[in-house]
Amino acid sequence: MQKELKIIFNTIPNYAALDETEKKLFDAAKKIREIAYAPYSNFQVGCAMLLENGEIVTGSNQENAAYPSGLCAERTTIFWVGANYPDVKIKKLFVIGAPKDAISSTPIPPCGSCRQSILEYESKQAETIEIYFASLDGEIYKTRSIRDLLPFSFDASYL
Ligand code: THU
Repeated sequence: MQKELKIIFNTIPNYAALDETEKKLFDAAKKIREIAYAPYSNFQVGCAMLLENGEIVTGSNQENAAYPSGLCAERTTIFWVGANYPDVKIKKLFVIGAPKDAISSTPIPPCGSCRQSILEYESKQAETIEIYFASLDGEIYKTRSIRDLLPFSFDASYL
């Protein structure tokens, strides 16, 4: 038997179509992206998270000469939130990625490892996190939960 699995996502045509909170997150992710430490790939990623207390926390990718020792923007940010705000829920997560010094309009989705890490925190807080991803320009994609980006998720319920 063959089955089909459906994911739902929204497309937002451009920055102007975002609401005020979303614009703040976009601006914050874009700003922190500019100072990402990505001298090896020259691919810069910024991440901004809205916490339930109204704070916006940001981070960027941090690379390393020993390549696998570097870390993506989403995990740099979410681990920092996990360490510093262990009891504060994350409401929204916005990612913006693009090569340094290039115009780009293709939405950049979180990588597989970041999806898994985001899932951990979504499960921990027992409340979904809205995920937005974009490039510097163009369409913005939005999902209601990380589970839409990670079907057949492995989580603590299997342990
Ligand atoms: N990168 C992120 O920061 N987030 C992702 O979800 C995908 C990739 C970073 C890792 C590396 O520094 C650069 O982009 C190229 O892979």
